[in-house]
Amino acid sequence: MSPSHNLLPPPSITSVKQKMEKPLGCLLGFICLLVPLTVADWNILNQKTQKGLKIRLKNYCESWRMNVELHNIRDFQVVPEECTGYIAKYIRSTQYKVDSERAIEECIVYFGTSCSLKKDGKDAWIFDIDDTLLSTVPYYKTHNFGGERLNVTSLEEWMRKGKAPALEHSLRLFNEIKARGIQIILVSSRREYLRSATIGNLVSVGYHGWNSLVLRHPDDELKSVENYKAEVRKQLINGGYHIWGILGDQYSSIEGLSSSKRPFKLPNPLYYVP
Ligand SMILES: *[C@@H]1O[C@H](CO)[C@@H](O)[C@H](O)[C@H]1NC(C)=O
Repeated sequence: MSPSHNLLPPPSITSVKQKMEKPLGCLLGFICLLVPLTVADWNILNQKTQKGLKIRLKNYCESWRMNVELHNIRDFQVVPEECTGYIAKYIRSTQYKVDSERAIEECIVYFGTSCSLKKDGKDAWIFDIDDTLLSTVPYYKTHNFGGERLNVTSLEEWMRKGKAPALEHSLRLFNEIKARGIQIILVSSRREYLRSATIGNLVSVGYHGWNSLVLRHPDDELKSVENYKAEVRKQLINGGYHIWGILGDQYSSIEGLSSSKRPFKLPNPLYYVP
């Protein structure tokens, strides 16, 4: 059947349509106006999904978080207002720790079973820093758990204090990797001027013995984070490194060209770095 044939309604419907044209047109117009307003938002009054499934706010926010992690929801500027309470709870919960620890376990299984290290001094693993090795949760705690637009000045002021706590499970992976003689390369979108604060912070919470720390130069700020990190990896590969894995909390840390043999992602529903 051709598509144009499909468009021709049978005569009986045409006559009904002619009679109803005006009210139907108004009704359709009204629905069209309403739909874009309601699709994206939790409807506090109805507490229903588009299909009419009755849900609670927790279901809505859990599904928002899950779809952030699945990378279906992208480029969000803030956590939806109605979900900041849920995200605040999640990010301080046992569930967040269990989710993160599971990711770390999978990294350990991976390099125990699927990596045949070259042992030429060029086996490497890349770590992101914020919310991968160090936690920014104490900062976001005072900024409505992602419910406020990012203020880079105030975030950097906080980073300069060097008081970010370690993510314990990541520290364990860091030490496991180091013990296997794999070179550890830290690639962060923190700016170069934060170098000494960053090193001080990392060392004070137990990270030491990495091979290099790559931070963003002013030139790199013209590129997207994903491209900046991809270029760093390209240089490493050109320098003979075998990048076995990356651990990051953002897709922009693990996607793009010259990626590792296997990227791993930690949960992070607080913010999105494009
Ligand atoms: C961002 O943070 C800085 C430093 O805390 C503050 O002075 C400034 O007013 C903030 N900007 C906005 C738009 O909130």
